[in-house]
Amino acid sequence: MSKKFFITTMGCQMNEYDSDFLAQTLVRSGYRPVEDPSLADVILINTCTVRAKPEQKAYSLLGRMSAMKGGKPGVVLGVIGCLAQQQGSELIKRFPKLDFVLGPRALSKINDTIHRLKTVGGKVVATDLTAEPPQSVACQGYFHGRISAYLSVMEGCNNFCSYCIVPFVRGREISRSPDAILLEAKNLISQGVKEITLLGQNVNSYRWKHGKRDNFVDLLRALNDLDGLLRLRFTTSHPKDLSDALIRCFGDLDRLCPHIHLPFQAGSNSVLQGMRRNYTREDFIELTDKLRRVLPDIAITSDVMVGFPGELENDFQMTLDLVKRVQFDALFSFKYSDRRGTFAEKMLPKVNEVDKSLRLLALQTLQRQITLRKNRALEGRVLEVLVEGPSRRGGQLSGRTGSNKIVNFNIDNIMLGSLVHVKIKRAFLNSLRGNIRGEKSAVKADREVA
Ligand code: 5AD
Ligand code: SF4
Repeated sequence: MSKKFFITTMGCQMNEYDSDFLAQTLVRSGYRPVEDPSLADVILINTCTVRAKPEQKAYSLLGRMSAMKGGKPGVVLGVIGCLAQQQGSELIKRFPKLDFVLGPRALSKINDTIHRLKTVGGKVVATDLTAEPPQSVACQGYFHGRISAYLSVMEGCNNFCSYCIVPFVRGREISRSPDAILLEAKNLISQGVKEITLLGQNVNSYRWKHGKRDNFVDLLRALNDLDGLLRLRFTTSHPKDLSDALIRCFGDLDRLCPHIHLPFQAGSNSVLQGMRRNYTREDFIELTDKLRRVLPDIAITSDVMVGFPGELENDFQMTLDLVKRVQFDALFSFKYSDRRGTFAEKMLPKVNEVDKSLRLLALQTLQRQITLRKNRALEGRVLEVLVEGPSRRGGQLSGRTGSNKIVNFNIDNIMLGSLVHVKIKRAFLNSLRGNIRGEKSAVKADREVA
């Protein structure tokens, strides 16, 4: 009987990518994935610690999984990801049922770790951040049936924004070689993947000193030329180094989707300075104007925080003002929370929780109006949609536009993974609904069509 593993993932796309890496490694070693942790021989919890909320979620999951492991002999319970990196052996003290803790740069030790636990016993903690990130193992068949996949091009961060834990848990920036990236992309495409999202904590810092394609724009161009790839995306860019050359790619590269995720974090210059973001609100607005000059319909999404230490009501009004000015397609908004060891942890005065909640509510109310208005403007238009699978509620098919909006539409004789034209009938806050107009014949541009 084959051995079984269960893996649960929280946090960003990079964590999902890491979970895929681990799953492929285990599949190659004869394991198969299960959806019920009580059936698994190996249980893995992939954690995030970017804000207080995901951290609390990780702890509560660790408690539940420890209880589930109980006294079952032979079951191995491990924690991976950013909380694992940050807490190391402390996690084992707090959750004695845990067998191992692997940080993001120690994931390739998974097989050795399980082997050691099964043969020698004890506990394993590996959190060396100077190691190279794991290189993807091509596992034929693993991505069959998947339309979209992530591909890590660089890892880590050198920016040290004052609020952010990422440099402490993901280490310094390190880029993968273009050859390794192109090979992995071709492997994904050969398994039927149509859309690749390139990942990096700060993709624009991608640098490969040893070859022709030495920066992110060169890499994007090379990937754009791959046969069989319908769509290319990337995330995340830091506004301070979003170059003109990268902005131009949105006009030039036919597979690059018309969407950018560009976190602005705050609309007040004094807060931005305290955050050590190295740009002003004016710089940010100018960037979004430039993007729209190159591609008027580009969707712009962003991250923002409320309640950074010292944020006054007037600062918050500047955030609201920036949101009104830029008109984001969607906004991920968070209450600032102290992260241990960051510069902002020591900054005063802290904003009280009630004010944070009120600001968050005001911001989300404003953004909902903007998103709904922008979505409604698409009613009656024909959009290009990549068919991804059945809709969440069933009875329809679902896919996304190049601008990353979810579209549900009538079931047709249409293959998953194909590009179709859908006429939008109704727009909602989180999705659009429409009717199929036909399949796109050529594998070419990924743009709005009417
Ligand atoms: N508190 C609240 N939000 C944070 N983020 C990062 N660090 C913190 C923090 N300490 C948010 C930022 C980032 C997103 C991934 O999480 O908006 O872009
Ligand atoms: Fe969370 Fe940041 Fe780690 Fe991603 S890199 S899992 S967002 S802490």
